[in-house]
Amino acid sequence: MYPVVRIQSSRAQALEDLGTKAKFWYLEGDTRMLFKAEERGTGEDWAEKIACELAALLGLPHVHYEMAHDVDQDRPGVVCASLVPPPLALAHGNQLLLALDPDYPGAQGPHYRSRAHTIDAVFDVVRRLRMPTAGWCVNLPDGIDDAAGVFAGYLLLDAWVANQDRHHENWGAVWDGQHLLLAPSFDHGAALARNLSDAERAERLASRDHHRQVAHFVRRARSALYADAVAPSPLSTLEAWRAWAQRVPKAARAWQERLDGVESEAVADILEQIQPERMSAICRQFTAELLAQNRRRILQPEEP
Ligand SMILES: Nc1ncnc2c1ncn2[C@@H]1O[C@H](COP(=O)(O)OP(=O)(O)OP(=O)(O)O)[C@@H](O)[C@H]1O
Ligand SMILES: [Mg+2]
Repeated sequence: MYPVVRIQSSRAQALEDLGTKAKFWYLEGDTRMLFKAEERGTGEDWAEKIACELAALLGLPHVHYEMAHDVDQDRPGVVCASLVPPPLALAHGNQLLLALDPDYPGAQGPHYRSRAHTIDAVFDVVRRLRMPTAGWCVNLPDGIDDAAGVFAGYLLLDAWVANQDRHHENWGAVWDGQHLLLAPSFDHGAALARNLSDAERAERLASRDHHRQVAHFVRRARSALYADAVAPSPLSTLEAWRAWAQRVPKAARAWQERLDGVESEAVADILEQIQPERMSAICRQFTAELLAQNRRRILQPEEP
């Protein structure tokens, strides 16, 4: 089982206002740590942990999350270290997009999911960033030599885990006082269809109606990226990955080879290590199937 970090909310030093979930910062030694609460029972804690471990299998620069429990308020969650220890600072995607395009609707609120968050606009920002520092890139595939190539891996992860939340505050750049470097990937809690009921999972796993089966269900995952600023709906997570992959074909192949090399036993081992009280057996089974179906789709580019 993955360890569960026990944390007291009375140690909170500051609340984090960004994002939709309750969270607070505290100090562990000299390290600034963030506790993200899972108060709604929708599985964001296990989804975050599994996505993080899968990102590690791929060799992606990513924030490392541990399962956690706030003992003061008796609520589950996850913890992670700040990716920007002082003097570093985080610039979110919307700030970077706004710097390039003064008309970009950069504020939160109604523009939180912006149609201006297109593949072209994001690519134009990311290609100007440096790679994450070497400490984040210890296991990158050969052939990934720029930020756009690294970001391809983020979108492959999103397509694999069905992360529907890569909006303009869920990626960014680290400012080191001189340069902007692509930030490691973070916030993957809205993934893995974590808020389905177990009844629906069981029904879809057993269904003989192919419209109800997992292979069909996985096509519904939407990214927060758009094909263009007038598109009525966002791209699917698979379409977003493919659109980016077309722009960086060498890097895309390197990430696909990584995914191809992931053993299903390694994925099963990750799922097994989540506490059974947080993830039921049927949920584990459904999640394994979702990951297998998405992996197949990413590796067979012709399928819808
Ligand atoms: N490891 C980290 N280091 C530095 N800042 C972080 C870290 N994790 C989160 N943050 C900051 O906190 C914000 C909210 O965190 P996060 O995106 O994980 O939460 P969330 O509530 O799940 O967000 P969302 O509403 O996008 O689902 C981030 O946009 C970022 O500014
Ligand atoms: Mg977020």
